[in-house]
Amino acid sequence: MGMKMKERLDKFIASQTELSRKLAQKAIKEKRVTVNGAVISAAEIKIDTDSDTVALDGKPLTYKKYVYYMMYKPSGAVSATEDSAERTVLDLIPPQMKRTGLFPAGRLDKDTTGLLILTDDGDYAHRMLSPKKHVVKRYIATLDREPDEGVAERFADGIVLGDGTVCKSAKAELLGSKRAALEISEGKYHQVKRMFAALGYHVEALERVRIGALALDKRMHPGEVREMSAEEAARVFE
Ligand code: URA
Repeated sequence: MGMKMKERLDKFIASQTELSRKLAQKAIKEKRVTVNGAVISAAEIKIDTDSDTVALDGKPLTYKKYVYYMMYKPSGAVSATEDSAERTVLDLIPPQMKRTGLFPAGRLDKDTTGLLILTDDGDYAHRMLSPKKHVVKRYIATLDREPDEGVAERFADGIVLGDGTVCKSAKAELLGSKRAALEISEGKYHQVKRMFAALGYHVEALERVRIGALALDKRMHPGEVREMSAEEAARVFE
């Protein structure tokens, strides 16, 4: 597949797992690494990322330049890479899916649930989050009371938050049972909660269900994470 790529064994292992370069070298010394089935104890040998099979502790590492994960973020996890006291979304990634440099592309509040993308592709995340791209995010908010008919029009006109921040026109739909969908293309701090607050509603629960044309996989449960195909990852920009 594609261009032949030669890479140092320790560097390859560090890029495909959560091990640092140092720990990758240690694993090689400890004879935990095989290349095409043979134990290799020299970190500096060059492997071919297309045709060689590297295994760590008996588990083959399939070469991937970048990974794109879909997470159904549960309430209670913070969208950060490290947090001394709190559980982060990275703590929910199974060990075999962990990679050096993995981070959440965008943030959801601690109590917000739903679609969160994690990747180690900084360029992808940058494009997704760039205000110029106008990637639309769809949220379902559960409010403290049934929203009035006029809410959709107010959001469509572009509302002003309590502190004077102006929001772009956003599309809202009333869904019944105190629920409303809101689609925004910006990512201001607590934006959905503050937009509803500006109209006198309190958001009691918030779930992100779509980014661009990429929908949260309904078969997933809160706390679950799975790898996406390249096609799925690209849907964000559709
Ligand atoms: N808007 C919010 O208020 N919170 C989120 O987590 C995302 C959007």
